[in-house]
Amino acid sequence: MSKRGRFITLEGGEGVGKTTNLAYVRRFLEAWGIEVVTTREPGGVAVAERLRELLVGKEPWLPEAELLLLFAARFHHVRELILPALAQGKWVVSDRFTDASYAYQGGGRELPWQRIRYLEDWLLAGLKPDLTLLLDAPVEVGLARARARGETNRFEAETQAFMQRVRRAYLSLWQQEPDRIKRIDASQPLLQVQLEIAGHLKALVERARG
Ligand code: TMP
Repeated sequence: MSKRGRFITLEGGEGVGKTTNLAYVRRFLEAWGIEVVTTREPGGVAVAERLRELLVGKEPWLPEAELLLLFAARFHHVRELILPALAQGKWVVSDRFTDASYAYQGGGRELPWQRIRYLEDWLLAGLKPDLTLLLDAPVEVGLARARARGETNRFEAETQAFMQRVRRAYLSLWQQEPDRIKRIDASQPLLQVQLEIAGHLKALVERARG
């Protein structure tokens, strides 16, 4: 296997099952003898977790400020955790990454995509996931699940129209990069969702092992 690890992200709107499936991805890769680091955004390292508390709190951040805070958190996350782990040959699995900024700040908050692209180009030095699993479900399905869990953070309390824009933005990213982003219908039974995830992971492991 080549020395550098692989970077996998899970994306999707609220209540699409990212947490459950992140644990599945970890178990799947570990069964192949791969050393895995799981993490999340915003967060993953101390400074970024502090910023997460602010971001999901009740403060009414202006969209531009929110985007900058997210990239401040991401910059620390990439420098302190993701790049070092990949360099050590570990595989990093993150619950969300830059695609979430395109979807939530670009789609949801309607900030121009080129602003996000600029920050991505400036701060991330071309770091893109090797594989992104986009868990996609109708907005009503996801919001109902998130609310049933009693989770109403600042984003989960957003309107249906906001979440529709988020979903549309994710689908547009998928259409732009179908080789990297794999859409999975998250309204299917969990077993079927995980069967599809397994197929994508197996393909990536096989490519990595050459
Ligand atoms: P979570 O629901 O995956 O725990 O993430 C917390 C919230 O942060 C979620 O509602 C989406 C939001 N978010 C953004 O708006 N932009 C981003 O770039 C990231 C990583 C998360």
